[in-house]
Amino acid sequence: MPDRIYFDHAATTPPDPRVVQAMLPYFSEMWHNPSSIYVEAQRARQAIDEARAAVALHIGAKPEEIIFTSGGSESDNLALRGVYEASLSRGRHIITSSVEHHAILDTAETMVRNLGAEVSIVGVGPDGRVDPAAVEALVRDDTTLVSIMHANNEVGAINDIAEIARRVHAKNPKTMVHTDAVQSAAHLAVRVDDLGVDLLTLTGHKFYGPRGAGVLYVRSGTPLQPQIIGGGQEDDQRAGTENTAAIVGLVEAMRIASSEREADIVHDRALQQRLLDEVPQRIPMVAITGPTDLDQRVPGSASFAIAFVEGESVLLALDLAGVAASSGSACTTGSVEPSHVLVAMGMPTELARGSLRFTLGRSNTDADVDRLLEVLPSIVERMRKLSPVPVTEAPAEYLPWLSNEGVATT
Ligand SMILES: Cc1ncc(COP(=O)(O)O)c(C=O)c1O
Repeated sequence: MPDRIYFDHAATTPPDPRVVQAMLPYFSEMWHNPSSIYVEAQRARQAIDEARAAVALHIGAKPEEIIFTSGGSESDNLALRGVYEASLSRGRHIITSSVEHHAILDTAETMVRNLGAEVSIVGVGPDGRVDPAAVEALVRDDTTLVSIMHANNEVGAINDIAEIARRVHAKNPKTMVHTDAVQSAAHLAVRVDDLGVDLLTLTGHKFYGPRGAGVLYVRSGTPLQPQIIGGGQEDDQRAGTENTAAIVGLVEAMRIASSEREADIVHDRALQQRLLDEVPQRIPMVAITGPTDLDQRVPGSASFAIAFVEGESVLLALDLAGVAASSGSACTTGSVEPSHVLVAMGMPTELARGSLRFTLGRSNTDADVDRLLEVLPSIVERMRKLSPVPVTEAPAEYLPWLSNEGVATT
């Protein structure tokens, strides 16, 4: 399809050609089972050992603290269930936030239903960020795990994980702290000691690596009950024949992300700033969702709620105009419910239905942003004209959210 514009990097990123190159030998020459004894298999084993050491180096961990998984969802599940089941003698209380990915929220809910867990959910401010003091206030003697995401996938809000971990550990040194760093690792240097966490989730496909490879970092001494049992791979922590090619690809993507980080940040921030500035200038009655201070927001993320339109309908029209974007997380696209993140931030439900998320990346250009700024206002105008409710003035409860005037000028 010619001239398509991809603004959905938070859903997944195009694999970098250098990543694909690095993976190819593990399909054609070194495809053997790394647990076998012959020389070809030992080369695959060596590649995994080197990958483990490289991931450890990048995040400031020890190689034996790295578990390779199939991705972010599996790592999140392993962190929650693994720590919970290994700590039952200490307690059944865990804490998470209202804006986590469903890999955390739905796992926690299942643990309440099936495993007798007690879960406290900490709320967020209108910018989608978690208040570290609010987390601290929920920590009890029997709290075994706190899981708070580093950066939010829908509104880009970055949490102060270091401060959260510091407060949690000060109140109860036995409470483990996990962070889902799936969205931040593409943009920020993620170092486990700087963050002060005991467990951390990564996935390769959000930083130009392949899908099907993820990492769970587990600090030495952290109690963890394996969830996939079988052949004893990953030091008995996660069974299953290793996906050597995907693991090698993840590490190559991590190396590139690290060496090109400064340039990526400058590039993604410039385009992000244009969208955050210019969308509200061109479309009346628009809210920027998530932080407006770029220091609190991951580079490349620009998200909005547009009053009097359905986000899903705008997305379909954008798709026809050649622009691929999202209304929130890919997993909730297609559902009629407004985003749980925007609702948790306190946004009125009807306004939240107009949510749009543009997540920019390496291949995007100023011309891409120009094109979006050209097509989006006319799409919104057309849809508002079709609206069954008269679109003249925003209701009073929208006003604190809107970045511009609450009166239609179109
Ligand atoms: C914050 C967050 N956590 C977890 C995941 C799940 O990762 P994966 O798709 O690798 O299972 C995602 C993917 O959208 C995400 O954005």
